[in-house]
Amino acid sequence: MSHTIVIFGASGDLTSRKLIPALYLLSKKKRLPEGTRIVGMSRTEFSHDAWRDELKKSTQKFTDSKFEEESWNKFAANIYYHPGDLTQLEDLQGLKWLLEKLEAGPAERVYYLSTAPRLYIAAIDKLGESGLANQEEGPRRIVLEKPFGYDLGTAKKLNTDVNRVFPEEMVYRIDHYLGKETVQNLMVMRFANSIFEPLWNRNYIDHVQITVAEEVVVGRRGGYYDQAGVLRDMFQNHLLQLLMVTAMEAPVRFDADMVRDEKVKVLQAIRPMASEEIANETLRGQYAGYRQEEGVPRDSQTETFAALRLWVDNWRWNGVPFYLRSGKGMSCRTTQIVIQYRHPPHSLFGQKSYVDACRLVMQIQPAEGLQLQIQTKVPDSGMMTRTSPLDFRFCKEFQGEMPDAYQRLLLDAIQGDASLFARSDEVELAWGIIDPIIQTWRSEKAPTLHLYETGYWGPNESNDWMAEHGRQWFDVCPILH
Ligand code: BG6
Repeated sequence: MSHTIVIFGASGDLTSRKLIPALYLLSKKKRLPEGTRIVGMSRTEFSHDAWRDELKKSTQKFTDSKFEEESWNKFAANIYYHPGDLTQLEDLQGLKWLLEKLEAGPAERVYYLSTAPRLYIAAIDKLGESGLANQEEGPRRIVLEKPFGYDLGTAKKLNTDVNRVFPEEMVYRIDHYLGKETVQNLMVMRFANSIFEPLWNRNYIDHVQITVAEEVVVGRRGGYYDQAGVLRDMFQNHLLQLLMVTAMEAPVRFDADMVRDEKVKVLQAIRPMASEEIANETLRGQYAGYRQEEGVPRDSQTETFAALRLWVDNWRWNGVPFYLRSGKGMSCRTTQIVIQYRHPPHSLFGQKSYVDACRLVMQIQPAEGLQLQIQTKVPDSGMMTRTSPLDFRFCKEFQGEMPDAYQRLLLDAIQGDASLFARSDEVELAWGIIDPIIQTWRSEKAPTLHLYETGYWGPNESNDWMAEHGRQWFDVCPILH
């Protein structure tokens, strides 16, 4: 069967910045099935050639030195464009006619909704009505970008509406964090080595820290961001995904449902927070200057930083806190997962707390790799010890750049592998964890919103909060080289 990818919202930023460059690089590496067609649709009027020209310019810009004229021309020969409104039946019927003409036989299709989320439901309805979702004529998959709903209620409604037209195994909800090589490497590290797994539990681990720090501020996304805030924008999806991959049990096979079953069990084990506990278990902040951003009300209470303490109540993790934090306007860009081991049961060399114990730091980005920080003897100093790293870096070990997450995810969607996509129950469980916190934060029981200066690690109170829990944040910007 031949393959077609239909991109709705074709004239948008995601298409030119991420989707087409990823598809082009896959084609250049000969990973795309031969002859894969790309058909764009949006309301802007373009001819096939005019759209190809637009995409050529943007792909040149976003793939930089990897762009080559010859491979682009080969790739671009399979790009087409259909102007229209995806919420209008007649426009989708026109698209259907074009697709059938191009495919001239049975084909596998991926529909990529790269549109404003408010259009999802209308668009999916029309895909159903027009017959474009008819699975009898070949697999019809649909890819959705986040946000998957605004809260638990809207997520459930979206899932029901999508599943009315597309069966769940045909629905691919993208969380681009799962497309990152280092996130997949976390599973490889845990399940392809036998030395980590026996120590990956409450007997050896004091706590886990998951940090997604961004140096950038909200900038031109103020209108969207102020409605979302950091919990919807980062925690409901990316941070909880990182937590699931860190805490899950080994699946029986690396198969879409088995992997996702294990991830879902982690979410089911997360202890619900009662509203009176939220002040102690969470911390909220906003960077100074946020209220002056374009599209942000001058009295906005929206959080640009949050820290949560979560407990995974199961056999493996009982009593091990998971500290999650994310913010904009932080010291540096770093996503890291720190597994902090306990200190030895009996101290021979003056170690006082877990801070002097072994630590595994998984650098998700930008210094992709991992460091096992261990205690070593300082030479010529009696029995003085110091923390030293065993350092693995992708850039030293492997040639070439790390591919962008969209390459892996698009290829998986084309090949029908949903292991790295969020399932409906996963999305709903994640909302079930985040929603009550947002609700309390919007009520009279809301804990204080701490203001913080940009360029540091969020509000100072976040350090005090950790200290109250007897812990401290691992605040280290990765060394890039
Ligand atoms: C997006 C959020 O999902 O992830 C952005 O909407 C955030 O606010 C981005 O900046 C972070 O992604 P990455 O891959 O740069 O860590």
